Amino acid sequence: MQDYLTNNCTYLLILMINILDPNDIDELAIFGGKPCFVDKLHVGRPNIGDRAHLLARINDILDRKWLSNNGFYVQEFEQRICEKLGVKHCIAMCNGTVALEIAIRATNLTGEVIVPSFTFIATAHALQWQEITPVFCDIDPIKHTLNPERIEAMITPRTTGIIGVHIWGQPCNIEAITAIAQQHNLKLIFDASHAFGSSYKSQMIGNFGDVEVFSFHATKFLNTFEGGAITTNNDELAAKIRLMKNFGFAGYDNVVYIGTNGKMSEVSAAMGITGLESINDFIEANQQNYKQYQREFQDLVGIRLFNYDEIDSYNYQYVILEIDDTITNISRDQIMKILHAENVLARRYFYPGCHRMEPYRSFFPHAGLLLPETEKIGNRVLVLPTGTSTSGDDIHKITQLIRYCVNNGLEISQKLQPKNISRAI
Ligand SMILES: Cc1ncc(COP(=O)(O)O)c(C=O)c1O
Repeated sequence: MQDYLTNNCTYLLILMINILDPNDIDELAIFGGKPCFVDKLHVGRPNIGDRAHLLARINDILDRKWLSNNGFYVQEFEQRICEKLGVKHCIAMCNGTVALEIAIRATNLTGEVIVPSFTFIATAHALQWQEITPVFCDIDPIKHTLNPERIEAMITPRTTGIIGVHIWGQPCNIEAITAIAQQHNLKLIFDASHAFGSSYKSQMIGNFGDVEVFSFHATKFLNTFEGGAITTNNDELAAKIRLMKNFGFAGYDNVVYIGTNGKMSEVSAAMGITGLESINDFIEANQQNYKQYQREFQDLVGIRLFNYDEIDSYNYQYVILEIDDTITNISRDQIMKILHAENVLARRYFYPGCHRMEPYRSFFPHAGLLLPETEKIGNRVLVLPTGTSTSGDDIHKITQLIRYCVNNGLEISQKLQPKNISRAI
């Protein structure tokens, strides 16, 4: 009965959206209609594994009376990650930003480091925090990752390294970037915050560059509430990173290096291990959602769904639209506002780009001139809800809403113009 009702309500909604003509745009919530969703739909709802397993582990942690400082669960988590990724070393951390900062220091980066501007601000801040200048390099317009063809022009005598970011869990062009780093004797770090569980040419992400850095923040594919890790196949670097994340302690009363507090707690590690047990379910849910979005958007002109090609494997944690308003006649920001009014909290990501945020926009006011693709993509991208808590019905309603916006782009965007709104009032 429940299914029958749900199916029929969905059918009515599809019918309603399909038969709405431009004169009915008042039925959109932004113009005073009833929102399509009662509860808010968020991007980045956490993937949570088996609750009973997690609670049993937390109880065990309390019984052991060992809450942090390289405890039983952190060691198990690191071991399981090494096995999953086929990498020699994993050093778990309190979050991805501190892991990046430690990776940067452990690889002796100084002066200037080449990074994309189309990334979360932490990638740039982790450098600037240590008075290293992030030099922003443009991205590939299709893959949204560092464009290897643009890197060499950014190298100066002060350049010591490159940080590539595997945006959306899709690997950078690792081969080309590695070749450039080797040719110019630069250190290479990959910010793999989005890419746990993804692979590149049949090898798991986590094995490339000098080190790779993961974030296990609550919104990430695998989460430890807050957390991160550095992985590497370099024994010497791994030993240094282990010292650095624990104040430089090499044993009781023996500090041999400058360090910080980058330790992961036992509760976080327990969450990570529990998530790892369900990782295939998370991928399956994400992939199913992605395929549904792909089917439902395939004929919509002016909208491009970011394509995960079938060459590598991915975690499909992000569903990304690129909206070309020269075709849709309605802008990304207008569609976003309409979705928000309908309780679909779609998000702009990495907008307006690190180079347009402080302190970088004051340091390099003209950086945008060298970043045309970054600026274009930053103005087009809209990230949609997915993950284990988004249903097929939710996705169907979202795609129908966006379809309605695009099919009636001109009328809706005109009605959204401030002068029309004030006239209506
Ligand atoms: C690309 C990227 N780098 C770095 C970070 C920082 O990770 P955290 O939030 O765990 O500090 C994030 C996520 O928040 C990210 O998306």
